Amino acid sequence: MPKPVIAGNWKMNGNRALLLDMVAALSRMNNSSKVVMCVPYSLLQTLEESAQNSKIGIGSQNVHQEVSGAYTGEVSVEQLKEFNVQYCIVGHSERRKFFQEDNELISKKVKRLLQSAIHPILCIGETLEEREIGDEQIIVCNQLTEGLKDIAFDDLRRCIVAYEPVWAIGTGKTATPDQANEMHQFIRGQLVGLTNAAIAAEIPILYGGSVKGSNAREMLAKSDIDGALVGGASLQLEDFKSIILSAQN
Ligand code: PGA
Repeated sequence: MPKPVIAGNWKMNGNRALLLDMVAALSRMNNSSKVVMCVPYSLLQTLEESAQNSKIGIGSQNVHQEVSGAYTGEVSVEQLKEFNVQYCIVGHSERRKFFQEDNELISKKVKRLLQSAIHPILCIGETLEEREIGDEQIIVCNQLTEGLKDIAFDDLRRCIVAYEPVWAIGTGKTATPDQANEMHQFIRGQLVGLTNAAIAAEIPILYGGSVKGSNAREMLAKSDIDGALVGGASLQLEDFKSIILSAQN
């Protein structure tokens, strides 16, 4: 079983003061899970400096797929590396929806990150309409296999997958632990097909979508849920701490 990963996704929220408070408090915790904070680009330097003597992983929420060039407003992998970024969310449903990111583009980003030894956190998940017509496995399988297309086994080992049903993000509606675990088992099966059973067992599959201190323990106790990608609750210190503590193995 992979070491549990609890990743906070601040989205376009937060500021330096909150980050400094959060890092100071999280650094004092004695936890066995890997904690990662995915903050806006503008907070990466503050995160890098304040988390220096801690085990907190430095995460970005996005990256551009090209090495450099005339892409106003975008940030490259090498620029992320300057802040010691080790993790990067790719293919979040908000990027798919509001920025028209498709599987082909997401797969380019995944490859670019792996070339620079940054762990991609590949987000996949179906919308409510897709679940209602029973297409959730088809959608998830497609996003997974397209996102991780043509990647060598050694690189796949460095990927993290986050299953985030779109209908559970920011809505307060979580998938039930059994519903989530069932999809995680399906994803694990697809990863076996892409690699082999040993590598598939090493790849952390996180659940995301309204994870809170109050529901994390039950979720994280499930056999194939290896951690959480946490949005709203990662901006609330006490809630985030309690999620981290729920993930002890
Ligand atoms: P939420 O967001 O925890 O606020 O639902 C999760 C995410 O979008 O990663």
